[in-house]
Amino acid sequence: MSDPGENSGDIRTADVIRKKRDGHELSRADIAHVVDGYTRGGIPDYQVSAWLMAALLRGLTRAETAALTDAMLHSGQVLDLSEFSSAKVDKHSTGGVGDKTSLVLAPLAAAGGLVVPMISGRGLGHTGGTLDKLESIPGFRVDLSIERFREILRVCGCSMIGQTAEIAPADRKFYALRDVTGTVESPFLICASIMSKKLAEGIDALVLDVKTGSGAFMKTEEDAAFLAGLMVETGKRMGKKMVALITDMDQPLGMKIGNALEVQECLDVLRGRGPADLRELCLELAAWMFCLGGRADKIEPGKELAARLIDSGKALEIFRQMVVLQGGDSGVIDDPSRLPRAEHSLDVISAESGYVVAMRCEDIGTACVILGGGREKKEDSVEPAVGIVLHKKTGDRVSAGEPLCTLHYNSDPRAARAKQLLEQSFDIDPTPPAPKPLIRRIISG
Ligand code: URA
Repeated sequence: MSDPGENSGDIRTADVIRKKRDGHELSRADIAHVVDGYTRGGIPDYQVSAWLMAALLRGLTRAETAALTDAMLHSGQVLDLSEFSSAKVDKHSTGGVGDKTSLVLAPLAAAGGLVVPMISGRGLGHTGGTLDKLESIPGFRVDLSIERFREILRVCGCSMIGQTAEIAPADRKFYALRDVTGTVESPFLICASIMSKKLAEGIDALVLDVKTGSGAFMKTEEDAAFLAGLMVETGKRMGKKMVALITDMDQPLGMKIGNALEVQECLDVLRGRGPADLRELCLELAAWMFCLGGRADKIEPGKELAARLIDSGKALEIFRQMVVLQGGDSGVIDDPSRLPRAEHSLDVISAESGYVVAMRCEDIGTACVILGGGREKKEDSVEPAVGIVLHKKTGDRVSAGEPLCTLHYNSDPRAARAKQLLEQSFDIDPTPPAPKPLIRRIISG
């Protein structure tokens, strides 16, 4: 049978699919053939779907993963930020529930003298997305041109935008196809997807926050560590300074889940307040950004620098500048009541007394999606005001009749579905659980 897809030189798409299906290692040219052909529209979805499934089932070698990352990275523009003399450092999280550290870290790291060119994503599955959170600030625009992005970096040292057509266009196409062909959950494909976008930002260093637990894509610490190792190695091969922190996502981060609610919580942290776990993770990640960017020689002084930049109000000031430059209402910073607010609220009450011993973190994220805080279908729009405020987290004592959390909602049927899920999301037991560390492991290669 003739190959219906594009053939480049001697390479036939069907042969590349068979080679991977049978567990053989692909050459750089084989991989470039698939990536370039698909991005340009010369290879059809059905052949790339078959190739992705073969890659997911067989896995990729380190050399194949590097070749895939490289081909996806060079499918678009790689930003040249050499005009900036300061180190260009970013942070990327693999995604979680209530995972909002980017909104604190970009201005915090910029306040410490780093340049943070952050290209972020939207909510995926049960996890929230930085762009959706930022857009809950009235007027805030994330669809800026690369030129405007660069101008904002010159003024305040950080800017947060969405993926543009110029940045890793191959990943956009591959990601959309993976989403509907059961091929997201491959550490090799995740690594190439994330690293191609991040390396296109023109950074010198990257801090990865790889989430593990019931609310993460990588449920076990071993899987998270494997993915972290792969990304660190891939980044280092490309000459970048890299570190990955494996952090807890067995429960949401902080107390608020939902776009505008999470912006409020980030403003609290930037004011030196906010929940202890969120502040701790922000200080730790900022310290690693400062170490890789040459602003601190060890983690402890890096954390102290981050704490000083918060206490002095400098980080909040940078956040204010970024909001203004990206078209947002900076009035929300002094008056968070200007953020969108849901029409109704409703408590989820504990039926038992005891200790919260576990939280079904993915279900809590799904409950927020059901309320409208995320997308159930790709074309759905997101409701900025809805979400969940937790009153109890793992290890807390609770009495029967006390609220476990409060839903903020605009639709009664959605609130009823979310409430049902949340009632099953807290495991309560007479014996308190053993505490688990927030930061599980650090992988620096
Ligand atoms: N986030 C990404 O950007 N890509 C993946 O493949 C998974 C999570």
